[in-house]
Amino acid sequence: MNILVIHGPNLNLLGMREPGIYGTSTLQQVNEMVRAKAGQVGAEVRIVQHSSEGDIIDVIHSSIGWADGIVINPAAYTHYSIAIRDAIAAARIATVEVHLSNIFAREEFRHKSVVSGVSLGVVSGLGAMGYVYALDYLAQDYLARRHQG
Ligand code: DQA
Repeated sequence: MNILVIHGPNLNLLGMREPGIYGTSTLQQVNEMVRAKAGQVGAEVRIVQHSSEGDIIDVIHSSIGWADGIVINPAAYTHYSIAIRDAIAAARIATVEVHLSNIFAREEFRHKSVVSGVSLGVVSGLGAMGYVYALDYLAQDYLARRHQG
């Protein structure tokens, strides 16, 4: 089972970026948690961070045929990137959207996600564990069930 994990713009600064909102874990620490969970559930993970929309779209396209699932935190693109939404829809890869913060408890412009409609579900507000829960769900529940037919 292959899972692509995508971090969007500004998430490379985790740890120092608004820690009261995003927590104190660095991206590297988050990725270690993701890798540990992947090891436990027997999933292969590829983890990328991209600041630009085009790079995120390209990595979604290039994962077609490899990825069984995607965990994505599109960061600010969540709120307006129809292009990322369309890439997920076109790839037809089971996708879970993740946000460290609870986007619904923040500024109004963050309440809307254009990506949720093409995602299996959304984890928002559970910090770095959100990535781990999303991966766990894909590997142990959704994809496992699909595998069993
Ligand atoms: C975020 C929430 C977005 O609104 C914001 O632009 C981000 C991070 C989160 O993980 O909580 O960059 O996706």
